[in-house]
Amino acid sequence: MATKHVVTLFDLTAEQIERVFEVSAELKRKLQAGVRESLLPGRVLALIFEKPSLRTRVSFETAITHLGGGSLFLGDDVGWGKREPTKDFGRVLSEYVDAVVVRSKSHSSIEDLASHCSCSVINGLSDLAHPCQALADLFTMRERRGNLSKQKLAYIGDANNVARSLAIACGKMDVELAVAAPPEHRFDKPFLERLSRECPQLKLTETADPIAAVNNATAIYTDVWVSMGQEAESAARLKTLAPYQVNEELMKHAPSDAIVLHCLPARRDEEITDGVFECAQSAIIQQAGNRMHVQKGLIACLLGAFSW
Ligand code: CP
Ligand code: NVA
Repeated sequence: MATKHVVTLFDLTAEQIERVFEVSAELKRKLQAGVRESLLPGRVLALIFEKPSLRTRVSFETAITHLGGGSLFLGDDVGWGKREPTKDFGRVLSEYVDAVVVRSKSHSSIEDLASHCSCSVINGLSDLAHPCQALADLFTMRERRGNLSKQKLAYIGDANNVARSLAIACGKMDVELAVAAPPEHRFDKPFLERLSRECPQLKLTETADPIAAVNNATAIYTDVWVSMGQEAESAARLKTLAPYQVNEELMKHAPSDAIVLHCLPARRDEEITDGVFECAQSAIIQQAGNRMHVQKGLIACLLGAFSW
């Protein structure tokens, strides 16, 4: 099978996402029954992280371990972008490992690395995208609420890296998406142009009104107002985004069975209240758990343990 990179979800077709979900669900069922099949024995996943992580790092390392492979968490000493040109770095790394998960400050550096790697490159978060997160999110929506094409996701707050990946995932998987954000925190024009070109069927509304966005929603999603790397803009962001908190008042306007999602880590009493985070409809911990199941499905497909 040809090497496949997952730098954004534009890299996957709807059929491939469907297949990842199918494999992930099967492997999740088996794990819950105590079965850990060695589907990728001897295969190696490298991880390079320029920013902190709990979920992405641990879920990928656990996933490859369950599948009988191994992981290498690479530190600063490997010198990506510093010690030698990325062209040399990527070609040499590809001689050793089967896939590399990269979390980078700059999306273009992941694109650059992917262009030189013959092993798979998986984006583990950049300033512009968080594809593995959005896959786990839609998988969770399907587990909790069934058929995705009958669902509406309301994303409230900053239309950031996570929101962009959700938009592509919604476009590919036929989920209606409403984004409630102040005008300066909505999707940029080049992204919207690509989104409508590659996902012309996406039902997307952008609004300044969170109440309108949660109307008829099956899932309500938020993320931090200050993403990693945006700390200098903290004060301005907290002020502008304050009306977009997912709180008990907003939830009164949502259907009573709408689930609550957050990619984590959360800042309680900024983008979400503790009461909503911990409410009966919250699927946040299940969502975090699904990072591992869905990434297991993704690497199993990428590395050829399943056809897709
Ligand atoms: N949601 C997520 O990617 O979490 P981490 O930053 O802990 O990996
Ligand atoms: N938008 C957040 C997501 C963290 C998983 C960030 O980029 O920091």
